[in-house]
Amino acid sequence: MENIFLIGFMGSGKSTIARVLQKELGMQLVEMDARIVQEQGMSINDIFAQYGEDHFRDIESQLILTIGKEGDTIVSCGGGVVVRPQNVDYMRKSGRIIYLKATPETIYERVKHSTDRPILNGNMNVAYIAQLMEKRRELYENAADITVSTDGKSREEICKEIMAGISE
Ligand code: S3P
Repeated sequence: MENIFLIGFMGSGKSTIARVLQKELGMQLVEMDARIVQEQGMSINDIFAQYGEDHFRDIESQLILTIGKEGDTIVSCGGGVVVRPQNVDYMRKSGRIIYLKATPETIYERVKHSTDRPILNGNMNVAYIAQLMEKRRELYENAADITVSTDGKSREEICKEIMAGISE
């Protein structure tokens, strides 16, 4: 079976939904950030601080290629994976892309205590989240095969919508 890539802003529920889908579909699961931390032996904060965002994006692009070849995988992507068009091209070639959408207010509530997201360190407020989300909105929308709004929905409802979309 082809891969399933979950994309969306930080805190849109990709990791949680990926775990539920994995149980439902019995596919393997890759959490991109966790795999990067494991392979690099460094936290995401440290990678950004020591080598910069571009280097992190290079690692991310390489990982997308590796996962694409493995196949049969549910991938919880980093929120910024869509900023490189080649990542989107490659995801499209090796699977389906599911966009989990949420409002800036919902996102803020989910990530406000997080300290391991360098993009939001020092910018942890609804206005900044809304602004960055707007900057990325088209990238998420254009990449998506299926878009699911997650505000106010249970995990089960979200998964049901995804499964229905996939089987169409
Ligand atoms: C990022 C999102 C993070 C992580 C990194 C950069 C982004 O992933 O890859 O901090 O640019 O949106 P999550 O979406 O899993 O938090």
